[in-house]
Amino acid sequence: MAGRIQDRVAVITGGCSGIGLATVERFVQEGAKVVIGDIDDERGHQLADRLGGETVATYVHVDVTSKEEVDALFRTAKDTYGSVDIAFNNAGISPPEDDSILDTDLDAWRKVQEVNLTSVYLCCKSALPYMLEQGRGSIINTASFVAVMGAATSQISYSASKGGVLSMTRELGVQFAREGVRVNALCPGPVNTPLLQDLFAKDAERAARRLVHVPMGRFGEPEEMAAAVLFLASDDSSFMTANTFLVDGGISGAYVTPL
Ligand SMILES: NC(=O)c1ccc[n+]([C@@H]2O[C@H](COP(=O)([O-])OP(=O)(O)OC[C@H]3O[C@@H](n4cnc5c(N)ncnc54)[C@H](O)[C@@H]3O)[C@@H](O)[C@H]2O)c1
Repeated sequence: MAGRIQDRVAVITGGCSGIGLATVERFVQEGAKVVIGDIDDERGHQLADRLGGETVATYVHVDVTSKEEVDALFRTAKDTYGSVDIAFNNAGISPPEDDSILDTDLDAWRKVQEVNLTSVYLCCKSALPYMLEQGRGSIINTASFVAVMGAATSQISYSASKGGVLSMTRELGVQFAREGVRVNALCPGPVNTPLLQDLFAKDAERAARRLVHVPMGRFGEPEEMAAAVLFLASDDSSFMTANTFLVDGGISGAYVTPL
């Protein structure tokens, strides 16, 4: 039986871990050809091999802050598989030195802006010409629930970067809506990945404080994000663009959470 994105060509950044990894695996199950972009070369090559090699998956080393490397990533998709149908611009970081504005220095601020926001600009800029030429494409940018809600336990540059991703996504979605290219933002709630585990491992109280606000009373799983990305990537979401797609266990809808 054909998959939901059978023979579509997808580029996924940050595909070696967490949400990106789960999405790579789901996309391959659903019939896509996947180009995985990451800086984790060992895991990237192992992953592409495990999935079946170049007939279904190709790993490309890419630092998403480099225009040359991002351009090469999308060019690889076109040259290897013939099109660029889906771009999941997902790589991101959440380093401990990005904290309250009172403690976060300019270097820490800039690093997060580069990896989380400038990267999405570069990936969209690189993907769009292929999609416009085809008259078809779906871009999904990973923002976060913190793009729409303020947190008392701040990571100031992270939150600002995700707000930027969401605004850019909306604008691109509107601009290219009549040319067959859809652009949506995935806004995950807290998801059980290395990024979150690293952040909370050293601060159990901070983790507990965040969990209290999730109506479902648990963190999300990467596979639950992958299912949402698949929906946004596939024709099932054909009337959706410029959307803030919150997959957050109910956080953004809650005033009081059940005990
Ligand atoms: N985990 C959460 O709770 C959560 C919540 C909301 C949003 N997000 C967002 O989801 C996305 C994925 O997060 P995750 O939790 O799966 O993280 P993760 O740390 O598990 O995976 C991130 C991947 O990105 C790669 N990466 C990091 N810097 C890179 C760079 N400069 N160039 C290329 N690749 C790079 C890493 O090697 C890794 O494979 C991020 O944008 C993150 O901000 C995560």
